Amino acid sequence: MPGTPSHPAGGVPRRAILGTALACGTALSARGQQPASSGQEGPGLWEIARGRGITFGAAVQANLLASDKAYEAAFAREAGILVPEFEAKWSTLQPKEGEFDFTQLDAILQWGQARGRATRGHALVWHTSFPQWAVEALAEGAPRARAVMGAHISKVLSTTRLRIRDWDVVNEPVADPPGSDTPQAEGELRDSPFLRALGPSYIETAFRMAREQDPTLRLVLNDYGVEEDTPWAAEKRRRLLALVRRLVQARVPIDAVGIQAHLQMDRPFNPQVFGDFVRALRAEGLSVLVTEMDIREASNMPDDYVARDRLVAERASAFVSSALEAGVKTVLTWGLVDRYSWLVIEPAVGRRDGKLHRGLPLDWEYNRKEMWHAMARLFAAV
Ligand code: XIL
Repeated sequence: MPGTPSHPAGGVPRRAILGTALACGTALSARGQQPASSGQEGPGLWEIARGRGITFGAAVQANLLASDKAYEAAFAREAGILVPEFEAKWSTLQPKEGEFDFTQLDAILQWGQARGRATRGHALVWHTSFPQWAVEALAEGAPRARAVMGAHISKVLSTTRLRIRDWDVVNEPVADPPGSDTPQAEGELRDSPFLRALGPSYIETAFRMAREQDPTLRLVLNDYGVEEDTPWAAEKRRRLLALVRRLVQARVPIDAVGIQAHLQMDRPFNPQVFGDFVRALRAEGLSVLVTEMDIREASNMPDDYVARDRLVAERASAFVSSALEAGVKTVLTWGLVDRYSWLVIEPAVGRRDGKLHRGLPLDWEYNRKEMWHAMARLFAAV
């Protein structure tokens, strides 16, 4: 489906792209095109949400926490829970077989611990951000694949034990419906090195391995593309719900479903449809989390920032209120500040007309946008 890019696996020189994005955004704000600052004073989203039993947090990058004071201050102010944007992915933690590197993840954990903020884990088993050595190892056959997966899960969970209590165990296992540019597997599961090596049971095996390692962790299955009111999303919802039901029936130790919520404004959103889906998942006895929310603008949006930000805020409001009404208790955005959003940095998810998405609660200059206020109003009113 056009506009449904697969998630890039990384491997792009991040610094180079970031440099361009930064130069661009600075120029825009220097020309005074940003809306008037709406300030950074007063309680942050996480504190507002906490008052009503809701957890708000965001994906963070260790290198930015260390290098950008304003970014660090924004996280201290707004995020009650941190998600490593890439620091807990396989390619970062185990770039070579048996050689683990927890340095960047540790930096996030320490920053959070010093401020009483929890960190959630993302992601143990995922087809992307997955190193070539592991692709090759898994291709050597099922016994080797099981051993490699088990060694990774066991090392990561034992090293982060008691410091991370909540993990995306399997990320994006559901295949996109026809019309997508992502590789299709047979059936309804995504083509991945894990599926090829172990068949559909890789999902169950990963959850069981994680539970065995630590019986008290919250184990989450995370996926995307199930939010909007299109036939494509309806099919993806059907596939995800069917998978979750199979896992629950087989008594697989799964505690929650993460809905990524990379929302797209060129698609209709229907709060009833989405709410019903969340309720159907919860009826299986699982929690539902919003794990990676951000909003891609439509290409036909007005030019000026005020109008754009208002439309983005309306979509955020419709989505978050439907999630909260359906019983979601955790809302996480994929980053906090537009300046560093993957929607700006990764060409595959960027706007095609050269403009830069404004899909996070804080603008380029770290100020609270309409989206922030929309979320604050909802969190205060739950
Ligand atoms: C993205 C990161 O934001 C990028 O910086 C990285 O290059 C690729 O991954 N779904 C997920 C996240 O589960 O891990 C992805 O994060 C975004 C889509």
